[in-house]
Amino acid sequence: MTPSKLPSIIAIDGPAASGKSTLGLSIANALGYLFFDTGVMYRAITWLALNRDIDIHDESAVTLLAENVQIDVAPASKSDGRACDVLIEGRDITWETRLPEVDANVSVISAYAGVRAALTRQQRRIGQRGRVVMVGRDIGTVVLPEADLKIYLDATAEERARRRYNEIVTRGGTAEYKDILAKVIERDRIDSTRDVAPLKAAKDAVVLDSNNINAEEVFRRVMALFA
Ligand code: DC
Repeated sequence: MTPSKLPSIIAIDGPAASGKSTLGLSIANALGYLFFDTGVMYRAITWLALNRDIDIHDESAVTLLAENVQIDVAPASKSDGRACDVLIEGRDITWETRLPEVDANVSVISAYAGVRAALTRQQRRIGQRGRVVMVGRDIGTVVLPEADLKIYLDATAEERARRRYNEIVTRGGTAEYKDILAKVIERDRIDSTRDVAPLKAAKDAVVLDSNNINAEEVFRRVMALFA
């Protein structure tokens, strides 16, 4: 692999729990690039709205919040399983962004055009510096259409729900597979049918189906694209 062949901006999109973050982090670590999971920004706004008792369905109030709050995403400062730190006004809210109430509401706020405009602006500023692996739903289509390499990582809803279920059980939690599957299907529906920046593969994306291959193999196949 010669450095000149390395893509500087790598965009990874795909549905919830398709393995985008695991893949993105592995590539970023291998290349010494910044790993930036844009979903945490939508999660941070959702958490803040809930925390401030702002009605999630009040589009103007949530948009105002997104336009005025500073979210920082920084390399992980602790080895507690986090991929990066998420900070809002200096407070570490990394694990708060993973709360079930955030999961349940984040698709609603990420469908708001004003919220997307505010967060897309921040994401572009970081992405355009290069040497970045950016993960989300609309990176290759809207945030960084100029990305050098675009991956669309897919898997069936059943397979993704199974992975989520295993993650929760491994962490010592309890969950019902059928509830997780229902939530995955509902989030897919909202993410892919919204008017602004719906989830879809960019025309020039490499589409990878991860149903029957593990994370190491997905990583190997992506690295082979520019080896
Ligand atoms: O990847 P995730 O589960 O952390 O994403 C959380 C939510 O944010 C999900 O409903 C999709 C949305 N999202 C988005 O609309 N655009 C992005 N670039 C990233 C995430």
